[in-house]
Parts: sequence; C-alpha cells; structure tokens
Amino acid sequence: MNFHIMTLFPEMVSGSLSNSITGRAENKGIISFNAVNIRDYSGDLKHHKVDDYTYGGGAGMLMQAQPIYDCFIDIRDKIIQNGGKIPRVIYVTPQGSVFNQEKARELSKEDDLVFLCGHYEGVDERVLEEIVTDYISIGDYVLTGGELPAMVMIDAIARLVPGVLNNDESALTESFHNNLLEYPQYSRPEEWMGKKVPPILLSGDHKKVDEWRLEQSIIRTKERRPDLYEKWLLENPPKPEKKKRRRRKTAEEPVVSENAAIDSDFDLKDGE
Ligand code: ADE
Repeated sequence: MNFHIMTLFPEMVSGSLSNSITGRAENKGIISFNAVNIRDYSGDLKHHKVDDYTYGGGAGMLMQAQPIYDCFIDIRDKIIQNGGKIPRVIYVTPQGSVFNQEKARELSKEDDLVFLCGHYEGVDERVLEEIVTDYISIGDYVLTGGELPAMVMIDAIARLVPGVLNNDESALTESFHNNLLEYPQYSRPEEWMGKKVPPILLSGDHKKVDEWRLEQSIIRTKERRPDLYEKWLLENPPKPEKKKRRRRKTAEEPVVSENAAIDSDFDLKDGE
C-alpha cells in the first residue's frame, strides 16, 4: 500500500512515519510514504505562494485551489503510470465523519491512498469538490493542521496491511476487537508495590485464563466505554439460562461464566 500525503510540511510527515513499526514495514517494501510538498506546485514562481484572502471577507488565509489540484494530478498520473487506478483522496478535516477501526479496516484494502492536509483557515471549496472522495476527522476538536490527523489515520491503516505486523504483534487480542476493550495484562514481578498478579493467570489453565480475560474485557468495557458495551451486547445477547435451580456459588469459587459479567443487567432471580 502506498500512502501519498499532500502537505506544506512534508518533513513533519515522513520524519515520523519512517520510524518504529511503520518504518520497518517501509524498509521491507510492504508500504511506502510519499510526502509531496504542495508549495512545489505553486503557480507563483517568485514567492511560491499557496494561500490568499477569502472572498467575502473574514479573518485568515485560504489554501488556493490550483497548487493542490496540480499536486494531486501529478500524484494521480504517477499512480496510473505504475498500473494503479484513480486513488481515493481523503481530506482530513474536523468537518468529516469520525475515523474509527472499521474505517481503518476498509481503507487498508486500497493499493494507494492520498491524504490532503489543510492549513490556515481551510481550502478553496472548488478543489475539494474536484478531487476529494472522503472527508474524515479524527475527533471533535480542532488542530492547527491536517498532518497529525493524517499520521494518526495512516498508522491505524498501515498496521492492518498484511505483513506490517509480525505474527506476535498481530496475534495480540486488540482493543475494539468485537467492540470489547482489551483485558488487563501483567508482567514480572508477581508482586509489585504490594499488588499481586491475579492468581488465575499463574494457574496454567488456559481455558480458565481465557474465560477470566473475556470477563475482564466485558467489565472494563461496561465501565469505561458504555457506548461500546451496548454495541457488544446487541451482537452478543446473553444466552438464556436453563430452567433449573441455580446452585449457590461458594465464596471461593471464581466467577467464570461468559454471562457472569452481564448477569447484573438481567437480574436473574433464584429458582429461574
Ligand atoms: N484538522 C484540524 N483538526 C482536525 C481534526 N480533528 N480531524 C481531522 N483534521 C483536522
């Protein structure tokens, strides 16, 4: 997958993405980053101007249509020369739909993606109408430019491209997998600051560990992200309990049933 980033600050983008896991994948040739300076396409050969005042008045400067359009045409033509198709163009803007894991998964299937990073007070509407296919935000707050949001999205998309994560990394159960947050995890030592690792994790009983982790994920999601928990509940309605007398649990017995963490929502009565 090739990421093309149209920006006024190309060094900000390539400097960051060429590190760590995305940098390793770039070195292996699985993904590439092509940060293109919009200023190089300015029609103003003397001052390389790319912005101007807004018609109708108002504070601040607007990025002009022509340099952005020419920059995109250059990127698009190179993609087509290399056998690709016309790419999707994402304008990163707080006015877009909010990015999430599902969107990252969808975009990770593309061969080429173009990101347009805005600055100043925005971009001339006419070039957006001409080239943009997706308007995406990273959340309901305003940043000074589109580079950071573009990098956030690129990182989330890149790690879903086959081969970017190694087996260990991709085998990890993820937050947002099935709308559940990840369970708590512990490493050595067994006791730190008086806090002990939950004994079930030292038991060697993989089935019990899996049950405990699922239960913890459910509890954590319910507490921290009730919105995600509601989604998960819709997709995983609790299994109806068999019509038999429920045996009372002894005090020591661990709670491991898949329904255990959600029983409280369904108020099971004795004898049901
Ligand atoms: N540009 C400025 N703020 C942004 C945001 N929240 N998401 C995407 N692009 C932006």
